[in-house]
Formats: sequence, C-alpha cells, structure tokens
Amino acid sequence: MPTLFEPLALGALTVPNRVIMAPLTRSRATRDGMPTPMMAEYYAQRASAGLIISEAIGVSRQGNGFTYTPGLWNEAQVDAWKPVTRGVHEAGGLIIAQLAHTGRAGHHTVIGEQPVSSSATVSPVAAWTYDGPKPAEMSRPLRVEEFPGLVASYSRAAKNAIAAGFDGVQIHAANGMLIDQFLRDNSNARADEYGGSVENRLRLLRQLTQAVAEAVGPDRTSVRLSPNGETWGVDDSDPTPLFTAAASMLDAIGIAFLELKEPRPDGRFLKTDVPRQSPMMRRHFRGALVLNCEYERADHQADLDSGLADAISYGRAFIANPDLVRRLRERAPLSEAQQETFYTQGAEGYTDYPTLEDRKAVA
Ligand SMILES: Cc1cc2nc3c(=O)[nH]c(=O)nc-3n(C[C@H](O)[C@H](O)[C@H](O)COP(=O)(O)O)c2cc1C
Repeated sequence: MPTLFEPLALGALTVPNRVIMAPLTRSRATRDGMPTPMMAEYYAQRASAGLIISEAIGVSRQGNGFTYTPGLWNEAQVDAWKPVTRGVHEAGGLIIAQLAHTGRAGHHTVIGEQPVSSSATVSPVAAWTYDGPKPAEMSRPLRVEEFPGLVASYSRAAKNAIAAGFDGVQIHAANGMLIDQFLRDNSNARADEYGGSVENRLRLLRQLTQAVAEAVGPDRTSVRLSPNGETWGVDDSDPTPLFTAAASMLDAIGIAFLELKEPRPDGRFLKTDVPRQSPMMRRHFRGALVLNCEYERADHQADLDSGLADAISYGRAFIANPDLVRRLRERAPLSEAQQETFYTQGAEGYTDYPTLEDRKAVA
C-alpha cells in the first residue's frame, strides 16, 4: 500500500507526495482582490506539499464576499498572481487555484450588491465587512437568465488561473458557499429545474464543472465537497443520495480528483454526528479521492491502506508547519496554528512560522 510519501497521478499532474495543502483563506490580499508579495512568500514556503490548493479565489466581485480575499476576474489580478505561482514552481512545487463564489455569505458593502443564492435566505453566520462583523443579509435568488453569466464567470476565472501560471483549478462546492447553497436542501427551496430533486440540485455543479473542464481540461479540474454536516448554516436532510449522485456525476466528467472535507464526531476544530460519506461516495467515484479534516491526529495511513483515500489534505497543520511533509516523514513534533492570526492582514502568524531548520539555527 502506498505511503504518504509516494507520488500520485492527479489527472494531468503527478504529485511527488500525497500530503496536500488544503485551501485556506488568509485575508492577505488587497481590498480589490489583488494578491500581494507576502502571499508569494507564504505559498513558496509551503512548496514541498505534494500539491498546494490555494485559498478560495473569487470568480467575480459578486462572489468575493469575504474581506481582503483575492480574485481572478480581471487582467490585473492575473498579473499579480504570476509571482505567486512562479515562486511555488521555482521552489519545486505545484499549485492549483480554488475558484469560489461566496453567495449569500457576502455583504453588499464588500461585493457592491445584495448577495445572491439559490433562494431568499439569511445565513446564520455574521457577514465579514471592512467595518467588522455585520448581521447577514437576506439573499436574492439567482434568476434562470443569470446562470449563463455565472457559468461564464467560472470558465473565465479557470482560464485566467492557467494564464496566471496555476497548474489547474478546484471548484469550491463545499462549506456553505454558493454551489453548496444549491446542493443542500435546507438552503435551496427553488421550484424550478435548479431545486427539489437531487438531479435538479446538482444541475448547477454539473454545468459549472462541465464548463470549467471544457475551459482547462477535465484533467486539470478538481472539485471540493463537504458532504457531512452543517457549514455556514448549510446542511442536507439526506446527504447520502445527494453526494453519491454528485460522485457519479463528477466521475462521468472525468475530473482530476475529488476532495472531501469530512469532520468527525470527536473533532476538536470541526465536529458533526453525520457520518462521513466518503465510504459510500468512493464506490461511485473511480478517480483520485483526497480526504481532509484533522488528519494530523487521525491515522492517515489507515485510510490510504484501505483504499478509501489516495491522498490526504491538511489545513491548519500547513498554516503552522511550512515543512509539514518533512515533519510527518520524520515524525517530528508539529506546531499549533494560532487562530487569532488566521484572517489578520500582517506577516505575523502568516510567513513567520518556523521550519525545523529555522529552529535548529536558533538553538
Ligand atoms: C483559516 C482557515 C481558512 C479556510 N479557508 C478555506 C477556503 O478558502 N476554502 C475551503 O474550501 N476551505 C477552507 N477552510 C477549511 C480547510 O480547508 C479545512 O477543511 C479545515 O481546516 C479542516 O482541515 P484541518 O483539520 O486539516 O485543518 C479553511 C480553514 C481555516 C482554518
């Protein structure tokens, strides 16, 4: 059975190890969605990951609802990403862009309009604004005439990602963001062909994935789902039929890999009593499956050995351990990520986490 430290084919990419950096929003971009030099340093520090999945990147201003988060909808942003991808490549790494639309999680003061969603709902989570947290706003249901424009924003952002030097893209369909607001039944009350049945709720994800796969190739397209439990107020009453159908649909498109964020009942950071859906989804998806959530504590090797996972993605462990691959290989102690600096704008808690080498140099 493969170990974490063996290579793996993920569509067009062959990654040198199976320790993947999970997507992590860090709010170090400018207010107009431009990546910054500090971000280039941060990602290059983490280039020994088998693959870096970038932080969520807005496909449009409408979809870039968090503060100080980057975008990929205009030329200036494409140019500003180039030093980031170059830095990772020069350090020997690979990086793909997570393409995101925050939907109802946005706020009009950040995105310049009323937030959109599948239906008129209000997120239970406060919105991020440049004046601090504000009560979430009632969302405006997207009209059917708006879907072609939405789909075009994803395929344009995907092409922009490749032009900016990314090695591929990931469609963010997890964590209560726009696509998840369509997928799951507590946020989607539509009566048209985008709501109701599992097939209808999957329609937007299918159309977006097909469009992105056409734009950059299915072998450079991945998808992230969070099939078990609630995030950002979004949840489903019956996840297994929905997410096994999603797995079959994505298998048919032939994406490079599927990543699942699955909290567990004993989670310290994220917790849910809804069982992990990966064992059921695995039977419907023949491509590479990347599993996530608190694996630095759990037995990643057991999930590789059983064939459930082909690779593991790590979030907070990569925030605090730029050299995570080496630490896992050498069974060295891991540093803890500091929550207070997850979304602050400075270098503190961002580019200043030491490697084992840094520690030796100080000792
Ligand atoms: C600071 C922070 C930012 C995050 N940003 C994103 C994001 O932009 N996109 C996404 O899909 N998940 C995001 N997540 C979720 C992580 O990718 C991951 O699923 C979560 O941290 C659990 O994995 P871990 O236990 O390895 O940290 C974020 C998590 C944290 C802690």
